[in-house]
Amino acid sequence: MERHGLSYRFRNAIVRTPGKSVTEGLRDVDRGAPDHAVYLEEHETYVQALRRAGVEVATLPALEPYPDSVFVEDTALCLPEGFIILRPGAPSRRGEADSMALDCKNLGHPVLRLEGRGTVDGGDILVTDREILVGASERTDQNGFDELAAIVSKWGYTISLVRTPSDVLHFKSDCSVLGPDTILATHRLSGALCFSDYTVLEVPRGEEAAANSIRVNSKVLVPDGFPKTAGLLDSSGFDVTRVPATQAALLDGGLSCQSLRF
Ligand code: GLY
Repeated sequence: MERHGLSYRFRNAIVRTPGKSVTEGLRDVDRGAPDHAVYLEEHETYVQALRRAGVEVATLPALEPYPDSVFVEDTALCLPEGFIILRPGAPSRRGEADSMALDCKNLGHPVLRLEGRGTVDGGDILVTDREILVGASERTDQNGFDELAAIVSKWGYTISLVRTPSDVLHFKSDCSVLGPDTILATHRLSGALCFSDYTVLEVPRGEEAAANSIRVNSKVLVPDGFPKTAGLLDSSGFDVTRVPATQAALLDGGLSCQSLRF
């Protein structure tokens, strides 16, 4: 079933202020710790960009015991039928899901939870207008997928387990939705079977991190510093907003990870 605009028309977003502990966030390669003050500035610019795209943003307070908690997207999947609190794959991040469950309830959103031992990070979930693709990764496993699939299948969604490229953190590190039938993807994902029924815009080589852009209503938020990708999207007719994400990038994060959009 096609759900028109599900993947890019949003009225609301939830973000979390980066705590001082963000300097200790998980990273695959240590290229230095984020600077908390700079992160706060970039986060505020990100929130303003979401607002300018027409979204009402709820900002949750910093969660110091969890250095990666600014990456709220990994803790929940927000669908019109309900919010599903996930089970993040990194043990140090599990408690973020408990906090998000409480926060969502306090914001008035009823929640379901993954209760089993399987794991799913929201960064591995790509929702398009016609299906949900979940990338198996070091953070997302078959058991987690099965439990998630059982819930969303009842709501009528088509959901499939696909593969996250081995050298990236999350499936959405390498792809994002640009429209009902259009995906932005890195070269290594652009030919993937799961995208054979979509039009794929390939991120220019050397700008792979720009694949983690986000379409929000009429705008596409693109991480700053990737001029070829911004130019490609611009010339393809998209309304591009460049948003700095240098500090998130130090923790293998990007634009999508820093908000839940619904
Ligand atoms: N630093 C983001 C993550 O590893 O989940």
